[in-house]
Amino acid sequence: MFKEKLLRIFNTKLKIIATICSIFWFILYFALGSAIFKNMWNTSPALPFIGGLFALIPIILMIANLLFFRNKWLSICVIIESVIFSLIYFLFFAFVLSKLNYFLITGIPYFIAAALLALICFFVFAFPKLQKTMKKITAISITISVLVVCLVCVFEATPFYISAGATVFVADDEYQIAFATSHNSTGAIEIDGTTYYDQTDGENNISTLHKISIPAKKLDNAKNYSIITQSVIIYSAYYPAKGRKIKQDYTFRPIDESDGIQIYNLSDTHECVAGPSKAASWFDDKLDLLILNGDIINDVSSEYQISLIYKLANKITNGSRPVLYTRGNHECNGKLASNLSKYVGSTENGMYFTYDIGNSVSMLVLDTNNDMEDSNALINPIANFNAIRSKQSNWIKDNANWNKGKLNFVVAHMAYPLSGYLNESCAWSDWANELVNLTNNKTDLLISGHSHRTDFIEPNTEDNAKATFPVLRGSLRSNKYSDREGISPNEFTGTAIEIINGKITVKFTNANKQIVKEFDINI
Ligand SMILES: [Fe+2]
Repeated sequence: MFKEKLLRIFNTKLKIIATICSIFWFILYFALGSAIFKNMWNTSPALPFIGGLFALIPIILMIANLLFFRNKWLSICVIIESVIFSLIYFLFFAFVLSKLNYFLITGIPYFIAAALLALICFFVFAFPKLQKTMKKITAISITISVLVVCLVCVFEATPFYISAGATVFVADDEYQIAFATSHNSTGAIEIDGTTYYDQTDGENNISTLHKISIPAKKLDNAKNYSIITQSVIIYSAYYPAKGRKIKQDYTFRPIDESDGIQIYNLSDTHECVAGPSKAASWFDDKLDLLILNGDIINDVSSEYQISLIYKLANKITNGSRPVLYTRGNHECNGKLASNLSKYVGSTENGMYFTYDIGNSVSMLVLDTNNDMEDSNALINPIANFNAIRSKQSNWIKDNANWNKGKLNFVVAHMAYPLSGYLNESCAWSDWANELVNLTNNKTDLLISGHSHRTDFIEPNTEDNAKATFPVLRGSLRSNKYSDREGISPNEFTGTAIEIINGKITVKFTNANKQIVKEFDINI
């Protein structure tokens, strides 16, 4: 009796498919949601419930359709809705977990394979059944699609423009000016009649990313520079296909100590630009130095992601202020991770160096690299970070007199003196202990990130028992919380550091330009 009733309700394949789709979407919402409901709640408690209503729409529609309407088109509507909701929600889930670009970029070969498979199925099963006119239309549409894909992907027939304006990275006594273009190009910087090229052994580097080193003094004096780039559409040995040349002018203002030193520290922005750039515009024109303290991108799988570092820095500084970059653990992974130092502030050693603001502040900039053991299945056999940890320790020993300033800061993505790094549960606790020993009694403050929270941990406390200096951590995706992240890319809190007459004032400021917390650091 019951079986017959069921068979009467589910009397077409379409109804069965639509019911399965609506149930799948409903389950998917709560399965993925268990990992992100907390973040949604932190932005607004209404969000998980609004999402819940969307999870119910297809299933309610389908129940009504099965019992009352019995309409073919409503079933089709439920299928389309469920598929679209599932897809959007999966992408949203990947975004909240900072994995969206990883999924989209790493997925390209799989997406192409799936599209080709679908095309084969279409030609085998559907194409022979089409009428003559439809066959013609299909053939023309597919040919045009292939042509457009070839023009864009092989011949780069796309508009040429500067996709991420100039960023002036600091490293030792150099400025390294970087920018990105929409497709492959040459790159150069012009300062005061002198042109500096992005080239190796006489050959211009053809890339979408360019970084050119110049002596810091040269730009400090000139206070103006231009970036020059020319599109190279096809990189052939002879007669390369070239496009238009672009020259973009910038002004530059070196650090101005006359009104004190204003530093903004951002980390863990994870490819968001809107919220972090609003927060970091706290000092406006008074800004002297922007610190991008790691995890600015989610992984280094594409030149596009590297260009996001420039995009964020340029939106805040407009290419007119120095930018100090440290590598975060997320920037240790991806097929271009081993090339990253070519495109951000670095020396021949790597992404660790010293940086001085006159004799007022000296900085030891460290590359705390990855947070996992090299043997971790997530990164093995690609990771090989143990080797560079010991190399960096030797470099710190060789530069033991780095602390020449009136104030001496260490800048590093991970707050290595804290208990979570020093105890044995940390993959690199031995190195964390070594770093504390190497920086103790020389350092006034460690400026860090990684934890997605804003806090200040004094020495001689439970969490910071071994170091002789305090730890300042301050960046997260939220306008109101100090330790709970939301989902909105428009919300962010970072750290404004102001040094006037040797006195350090810290303000955690958000994307609405409000002070979340303010305090002084007494050295
Ligand atoms: Fe991190």
